Amino acid sequence: KRPIIIDTDPGIDDAVALAIALYSEKLDVRLITTVAGNVGLDKVTLNALKLLKFFKKDIPVAMGADRPLIKAPIDASNVHGSTGMDGYDFEEPSKELLLQENAVNAMHRVIMESEQPITLVPIGPLTNIALLLRMYPEVKEKIAEVVIMGGSTARGNAGVMAEFNIFADPEAAKIVFHSNLPVVMVGLDVGLKALVYPEDSERLKDMNETGQMIYQLFQKYRGGSMKTGLKMYDSCAIAYLLQPEMFTVADTFVDIELSGSLTSGCTVVDLKGYLGQENNAKVCVDIDPQMFKTWFLDGLSKCN
Ligand code: BDR
Ligand code: CA
Repeated sequence: KRPIIIDTDPGIDDAVALAIALYSEKLDVRLITTVAGNVGLDKVTLNALKLLKFFKKDIPVAMGADRPLIKAPIDASNVHGSTGMDGYDFEEPSKELLLQENAVNAMHRVIMESEQPITLVPIGPLTNIALLLRMYPEVKEKIAEVVIMGGSTARGNAGVMAEFNIFADPEAAKIVFHSNLPVVMVGLDVGLKALVYPEDSERLKDMNETGQMIYQLFQKYRGGSMKTGLKMYDSCAIAYLLQPEMFTVADTFVDIELSGSLTSGCTVVDLKGYLGQENNAKVCVDIDPQMFKTWFLDGLSKCN
């Protein structure tokens, strides 16, 4: 089993990614850390605890950053609803799984205690990961890979050019992409093709309890605009861990635009090598949508 830490801001698509990861026989989720993103930190942390109670999984949760490193906070409650996970009436969770330690200290401890290198899977803004790398650089020796949902080689979804997770905390993203760690960018190039349509959602309804819950969340995701396909962004990072063959990957140099008046927060992906820099990331530039769909439905069918 591959040991991982998921850093998340649930988030409807985060909830789906967590389901598949937590029930996968190939992944060992050692810790879940939360970060302000889709909605504020208290809400996303409560959502993580609600999901764990629903799944009956005892994974420790640690709260991380309540704001980006430098920028003012933004959110995506227009996409995920005001709770961050509108659409399902979850039971109130107890706080038992919530650690007293903050996310950065908890990640440090879990990484240093692990016998094997750990893979970090951030599916929200990169604030916690940047803080970890700055506060405890010794963890780098024991990080196998950082598989990020974020960025785009083309246009954005939080602005003309920027993807939400990078746009929310570009300074943090810059630290992570320049960390010399093996970074994988699983961004909009693939997320925009990892789509769930009404007929797929109907299948979830009859699948199992998790499927029913997700079906209900989907009725509120993006205000329920399912006809054009709901984007399973965060599940793509989990898909990369479990079935990388579905992706086309390019080794390249990625930097983050911090000061562009129109492009701030965008990932500059130098696929043609104009900048002459050493490659610092693997970027998922394409996905086989049919393979994703099969993997996705199969993954959720095991969430029981
Ligand atoms: C990312 O932004 C968030 O709204 C989603 O949860 C995903 O992590 C997609 O741009
Ligand atoms: Ca997310």
